[in-house]
Amino acid sequence: MQWPTILTLALIAPAHAMLRFSCSTLVTDRIDPLVNPGQAPSPHLHQLVGGNALNTTMDPHNDLPSIATCTSCQFTEDFSNYWTAVLFFKARNGTYKRVPTFANQYLEPANGGITVYYIAPYDGTTKVSAFQKGFRMIVGDPTRRQDMKDGDSRMLSFRCWGEGFSGDVGAPGTNGDTKVLPQKVCPGGIRANHFFPTCWDGTNLDSPDHKSHVAYPVNGTFESGAACPTTHPIKIPQILYEVAWDTRAFNNPTDWPQDGSQPFIFSTGDATGYGTHGDYVFGWQGDALQRAMDRNCQVNCLTLKMQSTLSANKCTVGRKVVEDVDGWLEELPGGGG
Ligand SMILES: *[C@@H]1O[C@H](CO)[C@@H](O)[C@H](O)[C@H]1NC(C)=O
Ligand SMILES: *[C@@H]1O[C@H](CO)[C@@H](O)[C@H](O)[C@H]1NC(C)=O
Ligand SMILES: *[C@@H]1O[C@H](CO)[C@@H](O)[C@H](O)[C@H]1NC(C)=O
Repeated sequence: MQWPTILTLALIAPAHAMLRFSCSTLVTDRIDPLVNPGQAPSPHLHQLVGGNALNTTMDPHNDLPSIATCTSCQFTEDFSNYWTAVLFFKARNGTYKRVPTFANQYLEPANGGITVYYIAPYDGTTKVSAFQKGFRMIVGDPTRRQDMKDGDSRMLSFRCWGEGFSGDVGAPGTNGDTKVLPQKVCPGGIRANHFFPTCWDGTNLDSPDHKSHVAYPVNGTFESGAACPTTHPIKIPQILYEVAWDTRAFNNPTDWPQDGSQPFIFSTGDATGYGTHGDYVFGWQGDALQRAMDRNCQVNCLTLKMQSTLSANKCTVGRKVVEDVDGWLEELPGGGG
């Protein structure tokens, strides 16, 4: 954020739903309950946030709000799980160090994690249908190394932050944001932006590739109220993950590659940035999310219960895969596949 700031937006436009909240780190682990259920270790390392019903295998019939006892998100009725790959710094001597996440702009100090948004079209009247129990999806593809010029490619980007978030204006994906990892030093860190598809087929809670049951609007943007394709007619809230990578400890040019290339690489082995991706498993309690969308909730949403970030930080789960992910590593966990 801010694009424009939530406050300005409220003054100049009809209020539309835009939840923005932090979900602290639940665990950093080599599991992927969506793409590699039952596998521990999964191919690459993720940072996972949300409810503590997170597990190596997550049966879509599970009722996450009744299994979970806490959530690392600020909204306490949200037991969803959200995850992305992890960023590493590759030093000149060839070893890797995990890049931490830090609290996003205007949010209380979170124990890293992901900033999550649920957004409705900007007109303030277009209705969106909240996800149903068992719904899941992914955006992006960890194997990508080039611009595929498709919906996903348009929805993934990086912002190179100045010190103290200076110059942070415009919506994610605008204002000089790049589809590749920034090719220069970013004094205030790097924000990764992941917008999910916003049109649902109305039937399938998931699909074999975790993508085919959702789609993007065909003629225009979700924000402007563009129609969904006839194959996927239901408008769902637009989910955005912002990940604030704290690269500030790695900004010394003498540690960067001699050939002038940038030193960051995802846990997938992707040093381009095209392979950044996000995974989502819906787990809101009852109709809480639908209520928040219908009431055009923004920062303060009286219909939802909240906890402080300090309290959210206390919700964590143990690692399923015990391995060093924090030292200077000879190779990426799992080899970076
Ligand atoms: C995770 O799955 C294991 C094996 O099925 C089960 O024993 C455990 O209770 C589950 N944990 C949670 C938090 O659901
Ligand atoms: C590699 O470089 C990093 C950063 O300069 C340093 O902290 C680390 O100790 C080095 N590791 C080895 C094995 O030289
Ligand atoms: C998109 O635009 C084309 C050309 O104007 C039109 O034929 C098509 O029906 C539109 N599709 C939707 C879903 O609005």
